[in-house]
Amino acid sequence: MGPETSADFARARAIGSQHMAAFDRTPEVVAFAPGRVNLMGDHTDYNGGAVLPMAIDFGTVCALSRRDDNVVRIVSHSADGLVHTVVLDEFDKDADGGWLAYVAGCIILATENGWWHGGLDMSLDGDLPLGAGLSSSASLECAVLTALVSLNSEPVDLWTLALTAHRVEHEYAHVPCGIMDQATSMLAEAGSALHLDTSTRETTQVALHLDLLDAQILLIDTNAHHELTDGGYADRRASCEAAAGLLGVTLLAQVDESDLARVDSLPPPLDRRARHVITENARVPRTTKAFEDGDIGTLERLFAQSHTSLAQDFEVSCAELDVAVDAARTAGASAARMTGGGFGGSVVTITPNDRLADVEASVRAAFASQGFPAPAFMTVRPSAGARLIYRDVP
Ligand code: GLA
Repeated sequence: MGPETSADFARARAIGSQHMAAFDRTPEVVAFAPGRVNLMGDHTDYNGGAVLPMAIDFGTVCALSRRDDNVVRIVSHSADGLVHTVVLDEFDKDADGGWLAYVAGCIILATENGWWHGGLDMSLDGDLPLGAGLSSSASLECAVLTALVSLNSEPVDLWTLALTAHRVEHEYAHVPCGIMDQATSMLAEAGSALHLDTSTRETTQVALHLDLLDAQILLIDTNAHHELTDGGYADRRASCEAAAGLLGVTLLAQVDESDLARVDSLPPPLDRRARHVITENARVPRTTKAFEDGDIGTLERLFAQSHTSLAQDFEVSCAELDVAVDAARTAGASAARMTGGGFGGSVVTITPNDRLADVEASVRAAFASQGFPAPAFMTVRPSAGARLIYRDVP
């Protein structure tokens, strides 16, 4: 049994007992969907650019049993552990429903799409830290949708599910995000990162060769927790749209580095915002090639350029992210940058195996000396996308 299969087996067994405790019945299906870490290409996805994320071996588990009536009962063991009864017809998507809004949104859209109809008992659990920039919300949406459609006999293709999860994010959580997180959670394959061109939706699996580099992807959760609903994300997206308009294109990824002189003449801060997107987009194919070639020197430079660009041009870093990047690099991480939406969240590093302990110790010490809350660390493997991990045999 491979590591993924044995982890899935343990997940299915654990949620099975929680489902039994909450609803006094065993689940019919259990699905798992992963979170993600982005290796390169932040704030490029809603600009028609490229991204290079990988799914991680942490995520959300969703167990379901159908009911004969129209009642929907939901319990989340990683939230409040209480059984909530949701009346879908009366669900107000403009009120702040927290995590329940994501789940209700998935059930409502699945019903509208004809994938599912009727009552449910649903249990949720997960091991992704919330607000750490590792796409806990995409993993929740993708786990719920994967479980729901598996109750029906008709399969639904993965892109349709990713786009539905993306609609939930826009319409029920009111986050104007790009497609990277939901596409990764649905489409990733074990052992590789996912290169995605968001304008064509073309995907390529990219081998990371971490064994050749004798290194791990070590994540540092700064515990400065971000909320994409706070407005900074929407503000950056609006600036990109305004900059694209002034440059005479529909999406900033249609401009390349040869046009940077024109970008410099945009009014500030639109010049800096556009410069980040255009240079970051160019770093994605370079990073892909550097991973394929096992070229750690180039990865080091690209990660450093990306962090500086996100911090100075796009202004989405924060003190905790900057301190984590510096301390990790000083202690021997080969490459480090903030990852995801920013305003808090996590740093992604490529750290040699013999440096893991030093890097953790150095970041811990730097956080303590700055008076920041303690950071958390996760080593992650490129993992498979959403999947059914248990089905009751009738
Ligand atoms: C968040 C969004 C993504 C993407 C990243 C930044 O994770 O959900 O769509 O824009 O921020 O790269």
